Amino acid sequence: MEVEEENISYQHLLASDIDGTLLRDGEATPGLKALKRLIAAHRDNVALVYATGRSFASTIGLVESGILPKPQAIASFVGTEIWMPAWHRSVGYQTAVESDWRPEEILYWAKKVFRLRLQEPEFQSDWKLSFYLDSHAAVFDLRAFLQSKRISARVIYSCGKYLDIIPHQAGKANAVRFLRNTWRVVPQNVLTCGDSGNDIDMLTAPRTCNVAVGNLEGELERLSDQGHFYVAELPYAGGVLEGAAAFDFWPRLDVNPKSQDTSA
Ligand code: GLC
Ligand code: MG
Repeated sequence: MEVEEENISYQHLLASDIDGTLLRDGEATPGLKALKRLIAAHRDNVALVYATGRSFASTIGLVESGILPKPQAIASFVGTEIWMPAWHRSVGYQTAVESDWRPEEILYWAKKVFRLRLQEPEFQSDWKLSFYLDSHAAVFDLRAFLQSKRISARVIYSCGKYLDIIPHQAGKANAVRFLRNTWRVVPQNVLTCGDSGNDIDMLTAPRTCNVAVGNLEGELERLSDQGHFYVAELPYAGGVLEGAAAFDFWPRLDVNPKSQDTSA
């Protein structure tokens, strides 16, 4: 699809992770209702993006069931894909992501040398290889090994159990940057929110406003004293609200002059 979204622009962008940030075990969390009201009130000038480890199909399922509001874009499978309404994959992003991606070789070594256990087929894609892994220790070895073979890839460890290997040009931060360039949003007007390892690149991006919700995972907590992101006291969606307020993120709602009473 050649027609990308070049004519659309937004003032602000809210990029949020879903699981462990807005939802807990697939269910709404305290604060989500209030967040949905704010998102609805700012619909015209704040673009909403889900930056998630989930597939596009499972994300859109949450939207259709009404648990989450409809976003302006979905960066699914750990920012390896970007989907835009009326739901097509962004070709521009895909082209960037695909370059220098050698999944067959990665899979070969991951199994042969590291004996990694693959996640189920529905969690795999052409641009994301996902495994289960109990310990963080192997992550450093795997990164070093791939580097020694000159295989370019990003190795991401989340929640003490998930390991994703994705193209070097992919990831949540790259997806958010692509969208903010597309929509011409200045980084200071971008709020990113997350809870775990696959959010680290997004939450450590310079110049954007970044929030880790209060229930952040250990791999993120270890970075919490480096000043890249605000750590909310409140968990889940309440933490997103808290972080947004801390950064004074929500733009002032303009009073429409036409709707003002001019009879006086
Ligand atoms: C989601 C995905 C899984 C991935 C994990 C961490 O749970 O389903 O494949 O490993 O996020 O990114
Ligand atoms: Mg998460």
